Parts: sequence; C-alpha cells; structure tokens
Amino acid sequence: MHLLKYILLLITGLMVTLMVSAIERNSPAQVSMLVNTCVGCHGNDGSSVGPATPSIAGMRKPLFIKAMQDMKSGKRPSTVMGLLAKGYTDEEIEMMADFFSKQEVVRYTQNIELEKAERGKQLHKQYCDGCHKIEGRTQALFNTLAGQWMSYLKFRLSDFRNGDASSSMMASALEYFILKNESEESLEDLLHFYGSQE
Ligand code: HEC
Ligand code: HEC
Repeated sequence: MHLLKYILLLITGLMVTLMVSAIERNSPAQVSMLVNTCVGCHGNDGSSVGPATPSIAGMRKPLFIKAMQDMKSGKRPSTVMGLLAKGYTDEEIEMMADFFSKQEVVRYTQNIELEKAERGKQLHKQYCDGCHKIEGRTQALFNTLAGQWMSYLKFRLSDFRNGDASSSMMASALEYFILKNESEESLEDLLHFYGSQE
C-alpha cells in the first residue's frame, strides 16, 4: 500500500514536471517563429546588414513597442513596416520587443568621412546628447543612433522634418537645429558621427 502511494506520488510529480516544461518550451518556440519573419530583413537576431533597414537588436523595449504601434497605426510613415505590423497583436509585439531588446547588436563598418564625423560629434553634444546620450550609454535613447545605418537615419530625419507625427520632440529638435546651423551639411555631419560609432 505504501509502495503504491509512493509510486502514485512519483507519477504525479513527473506529470507536473512535464507540464511545466511543456509550457516553458512553448513560449521560446513561439517567439522564434515570430522573429523568423523579421530576420530576413533586419539580419540575424536583429543586426541588419544595411543600409536602409535599421538594426533593431538591443532596441529598448518601450521604444520598440512604440515604433511598431506607430507604424501599425500609420502615425509614423513607413515603406513596408506599416503593412507588416498590422499582422501582429499587442501580445506578439511585446514578445518580439522582449526578444530583440535582449540581443547584442553587431555593427558593421560604414563609409565614414572622419572630418565630418568629428564635426558631427560636437554638433551632437550641443544639440542631441541631452536626449540621446551616447557617451556613458546610460540614457534610454542611446541605442537607436550609435552605429545605426546612416541611410536609414537619413530617411528617418527627413520623415521627422516632413511632419512624422510620431514625435513632436524630434520635429522641434530638428527645427531648432536647422535654425541655428542653417545648413543641411550639418545634418550630414551628424550622420557620419553616428555611423562611426561601432
Ligand atoms: C521586408 C523587409 C522587412 C521585414 C520582413 C521586417 N522589417 Fe522591420 N523595418 C524594415 C524597414 C525598411 C524599416 C524602416 C521603416 C520602413 O520603411 O518600413 C523597418 C523598421 C522597423 C522598426 C523601427 C526601428 C527603429 O529604429 O525605429 C522596427 C521596430 C521593426 N522594423 C521591427 C520589425 C519586426 C518585429 C519584424 C518582424 C515581424 C520586421 N521588422 C520585419 C524592413 C523590414
Ligand atoms: C528633446 C529630446 C530630443 C532631442 C533634443 C533630440 N531627440 Fe532625437 N528623438 C527623441 C525621441 C523621443 C525619439 C523617439 C521618437 C519615436 O518615438 O519614434 C527620437 C528619435 C530620433 C531618431 C530616430 C531613431 C530611430 O531608430 O528611428 C533619430 C535619427 C534622432 N532622434 C536624431 C536626433 C538628432 C540628430 C538630434 C539632434 C539634432 C536629436 N535627435 C535631438 C528625442 C530627442
């Protein structure tokens, strides 16, 4: 009798263990199915080989979610992402945000003009670093600029200037920047600085 009880207990224990591991297994498989669609364009684990597709590895979760929702709703202009994002629920977007935020970004060498990058560094310090801290890497927004593909950044900056409604902060920051510098070349300098951050 005692033995039977013992065996029953063992079996119950085993079943619980199996059930728990089945639940745990289910989720990573689901995540990898989801992100498989993305890596074709955004590169392995979200490190894009460029140049017009941004790296999304290491992107902070709230920014990732905001980007997806803004493109989904059309608030943020996009070429392919708007349509694509419509295929995902809030829950799936959250799962992908969690996955990509945990990936280490791999950065590739870009065609940098050092003089421009040097000027860009000063401009960045003066006009952008308050919100996009790069040195020290402590602030929330740093990862979307340092080492990002320059062509992508260029598109994004011109979107902000053409009334992208996803960030009024950026629209005013750029308006102020252009007002003070009165030149498009200064924007180019900034891109070379970001592109030089490997
Ligand atoms: C066909 C290529 C393609 C596929 C597939 C793709 N993307 Fe994109 N993604 C882009 C491009 C290009 C952009 C820039 C915005 C635009 O033009 O659509 C972008 C932008 C983004 C951004 C904004 C990044 C930033 O810095 O603001 C996020 C986040 C993103 N994609 C996530 C995803 C996720 C998640 C998937 C998979 C479900 C995915 N993408 C699949 C091409 C793609
Ligand atoms: C007042 C704060 C603030 C300032 C100053 C600022 N930014 Fe931004 N920037 C933001 C915010 C917030 C976002 C995220 C926008 C969103 O939600 O899509 C952003 C996003 C961006 C992006 C898009 C990144 C991506 O992955 O798509 C670029 C590029 C950018 N900023 C460049 C600049 C440059 C260059 C300057 C200096 C001339 C600057 N920013 C100054 C707040 C700021």
